[in-house]
Amino acid sequence: MQSEALIRRGVNTQAVVEAIARVVGNVPRPVPLHEPQFTGNEWAYVKRCLDDGWVSSAGPFVEQFEQALAVRCETQAAVATVNGTAALHLALHLVDVRPNDEVIVPTLTFIATANAVTYCGAVPHFVDSEIQSLGIDPAALERHLRLIVDIENGVAVNRQTGRVVRACVPVHVFGHPSNMEGLARVCGELNIALVEDATEALGSLYRGRPCGGLSRIGVLSFNGNKVVTTGGGGAVVTNDRNLAARAKHLSTTAKLDHPWAFLHDEIGWNYRLPNINAALGLAQLEELDTFLAAKRRLAARYAEVLHGLPGVRFVNEPKGTTSNYWLTAILVDDDSGEARDRILEATHAAGFLTRPAWNPMHTLPMFTASPRADTTIAESIQRRLVNLPSSAILGMG
Ligand SMILES: Cc1ncc(COP(=O)(O)O)c(C=O)c1O
Repeated sequence: MQSEALIRRGVNTQAVVEAIARVVGNVPRPVPLHEPQFTGNEWAYVKRCLDDGWVSSAGPFVEQFEQALAVRCETQAAVATVNGTAALHLALHLVDVRPNDEVIVPTLTFIATANAVTYCGAVPHFVDSEIQSLGIDPAALERHLRLIVDIENGVAVNRQTGRVVRACVPVHVFGHPSNMEGLARVCGELNIALVEDATEALGSLYRGRPCGGLSRIGVLSFNGNKVVTTGGGGAVVTNDRNLAARAKHLSTTAKLDHPWAFLHDEIGWNYRLPNINAALGLAQLEELDTFLAAKRRLAARYAEVLHGLPGVRFVNEPKGTTSNYWLTAILVDDDSGEARDRILEATHAAGFLTRPAWNPMHTLPMFTASPRADTTIAESIQRRLVNLPSSAILGMG
């Protein structure tokens, strides 16, 4: 039932439910948040793996998938991995994140971003987001770093902890590109490496350039809930061929080429994407433009039906960007969390599997002792945001 209090706060939850219903039409309930679609060459390519017996870490689809990804991201190279988290771990290692370093991470992200930092033995340092892009706010980051960082022997050192601030991981939240120009300037001046967490942003453009290829190294995910899926999978993309070669070497247990001998020259990981997953991914990539067009149509329809509803607005792509609208979202004006929760309850009751943004990383028990900046905006976004059903199929037809 619509709460009187909420109508007074200016949000009519029933009107939001009806708006969503008008967009999704009469598809069967419940309507998932994001589901994959296999209407291209997926069956044919996966069958070829089974027929040929190339299902594991060797096989022709891995290279074809990597080449198609590099073309898509306009990078020199792509190295496919078992998932996006593994790709993040590799990328952080490749920009020399080492034990006891600090890595700047937005507090508003999926936990994998922060976890990957800890896999390097480093410490995540959480920073605030901006409302326009939902990603790291470059101006707030600059103010924060100017207060706490000294440059010593060419590297940024957090004078409060004594640790080197080695890298920064911008996250293109829900597919909306972060303000990369601002972040590149702030981090460039302090010699902090950028590692782009583009796991949610395949196909998104920042000033006309594909996400993933906007910094020295970027990371993608092909988890089942992403715009294209390999079942589970990820990739490192880069314009630096040496970094790509290192990524491939380290992701294949650092094994040296030899017809029979087991020669490994350093500690690596078993992070390579199997051929059967790459086959699925190649077929999905062929459909990417169709998915992107459908998701833009879906986003436009949501924006239209939500326009004018009091106390709520659709989250549009940031200026100067083309978002893949991986997950569409609304923001309510009410900053108490109450309107968000009522919308979550009412939409679930109606069979729309909406969800809130992630709990800020600095509130999780593993990370409460981590260094951080003021995170007021990120916390507010979390109390105000709801993701809407976003599958490409909803924007088709
Ligand atoms: C922001 C972000 N970073 C990292 C990941 C990790 O990707 P994966 O699930 O493929 O390990 C995901 C997605 O799941 C994500 O949304």
